[in-house]
Parts: sequence; structure tokens; C-alpha cells
Amino acid sequence: TVSLRELAQSRGIAFGSAVSAASLAGDASYARTLGSEFGVVTPEDAMKWAVLRPARDTFRWGDADAIVDAAVANGQGVRGHTLVWHSSLPAWLTGGSFTTTELRDVLKEHVQTTVRRYAGRVKFWDVANEVLNNDGSPRAGFWLERLGEEYIADVFRWAHEADPAAVLYLNEYGAETHGPKADALYALVRSLKEQGVPIHGVGLQAHLTGSSRPDQLPALLRRFTGLDVDVAVTELDVRIPVPVTPAGLASQAEVYRQVTAACLAVARCVSITVWGFTDRRSWIGATYPGWGAATLFDDDLATKPAYRSVADVL
Ligand code: XIL
Repeated sequence: TVSLRELAQSRGIAFGSAVSAASLAGDASYARTLGSEFGVVTPEDAMKWAVLRPARDTFRWGDADAIVDAAVANGQGVRGHTLVWHSSLPAWLTGGSFTTTELRDVLKEHVQTTVRRYAGRVKFWDVANEVLNNDGSPRAGFWLERLGEEYIADVFRWAHEADPAAVLYLNEYGAETHGPKADALYALVRSLKEQGVPIHGVGLQAHLTGSSRPDQLPALLRRFTGLDVDVAVTELDVRIPVPVTPAGLASQAEVYRQVTAACLAVARCVSITVWGFTDRRSWIGATYPGWGAATLFDDDLATKPAYRSVADVL
């Protein structure tokens, strides 16, 4: 059968997955399926501060390098994830005593060292992640509190300086339907563009459930492209109640189908990335009690109905 990777390529988009460094290193069939089915990968955790920065003066590149090296060897693209986020920050940073100037320097150094290291290999970056609340206000967190809203524009500028060829995204969740968050995200991107900030794409995460009805997604994606940016679905998963039932799997397949069709329907939707491809390695079980089985392949790497529905629409 033809892989999702090839099917997507023939439609002019990329189909990708998040990848766990531990599974890639220790689970041969996981690595094989990742390599054959997906055209682009996003390190699930390996490029987050908590992993990359054990100390102020240390970068721990091992996991990220392993993922990027494997992707390059496989002819896959890479989405870097993520340079600035309120979560997954090391204690030396959040508990440290830095002046504003020092903190800006720490952030700039982190962004530029990381982006420069992977220049030419990591083509896309989720530069800033989850910067808004559901009501559309700026999301509270370390960077906002310490540096003010300007940190977002700064991080884009620093990343662009470090690799002018990188395609820089603002990534957000819960903006897949019309409402205050999607509106605020639109306003933020417009304002960044007006200020001349180098932002090239908007990523919608799309952590959905079997009851989600993403029928507004084509219009939402198209609205962003009106700001002259690319769009991408960056973290798609569709959780269902466990234990799994045939009806649950069918509802899930329908949501995957709709999201895939939505991206295909929008000229500047360049990729769909799933947040894990097998139920044996997914963040959902630990994060949403009572929910699970959110991915395209089951625990044994057999394809699920959702896989079929994605392949059919691609
Ligand atoms: C999650 C990972 O999947 C987990 O392994 C980790 O423990 C926490 O982070 N939105 C994002 C991702 O942008 O970085 C998150 O990934 C899931 C939600």
C-alpha cells in the first residue's frame, strides 16, 4: 500500500508526526513506521527547554540531534518545537534571579544557538507556543511576566537572524473553531505582520475528540492565509473514551478525515502533523484520564479506521 507520506506528497502537502526520542532509539518497529509513513517529524519533547537546557551554561543536544539526524537520513523534513513556551522550563531558569536584561540575553542566546545549530536541517520552527488564553488574553507565564508581551516579537526576530531561511510559526491550541481565541490569534498575527516581524506561518494544534466537529476549519485556515502566512495543522490527535468501541473509532475516523480534507481545501495549508502516530506512544492517556487511543495506529502498529479515512481523502 502507498504510505501517507507519498499520498500527501502527491497532493502537495507534507504529512508528519511528533516523535519521541526514547521510542526512536529503543523501539525498532516504531522507528520503521515513522520512517516509512511520515514525510516530516516534530521532536515531541527533545527541543523543549527542560530537556535541552539542564543548566544555564549547558545545552544537551543528544535527543534532538538523534531525531534530526534520523530525519535527514530518511529524507524527512523537521519542524522544530519550540523556542518559547510557558511550560517545560527548567528550575534554574524559573527560580533564578535574573534582571530583565540578563533574561533577555538568556532567551536570545537560547533561541539563536538552537536555531543556528539546526539551520539547513530544521526548515520550520514553532517559534512561540500557546501564548493566548481561551478568552483571547495573553497567557500568563514566566516569559510574559518577566519580559512583557514584546518577548513574542523579539523571539521571532532573533530566530530569523539566526537562520533567515527558516519558516517561522506561531503555534496555538483551541483556535480550531471561531471564537475569542481564534480572533485574538488573528489580531496578534496581523499586529506582528504590521510591525514587520518575520512571522511566516500559523500552526493550529488540533488536539480534538471524537465529538469535535471541525467544520469551521477551512474558513479559519483561509482567514489566516489572508494575512500572507502559511498555515499548518501541527499536533493533530483525536482522543476517544476508553475502552475503545467501534463507534468511538468511527467517530475518530470522521474527525481525522475532516481535518485532512480541511487542509487540502486551503491553498496555503502546507502540512498536517499528528501528535504521535501509535497508541503505544501517546501523551493522551497520562493527560486525559478516561480518554485514549487518539492516534492512527494501534498499540501493535496495526492501522485503525482513522488511518484508512486519512489515506482515502489524501
Ligand atoms: C506534550 C508531550 O506530548 C508530552 O510528552 C509532554 O510530557 C508534555 O508536552 N501542546 C504542545 C506540545 O505544544 O508540546 C505538548 O506535548 C502537547 C500540547
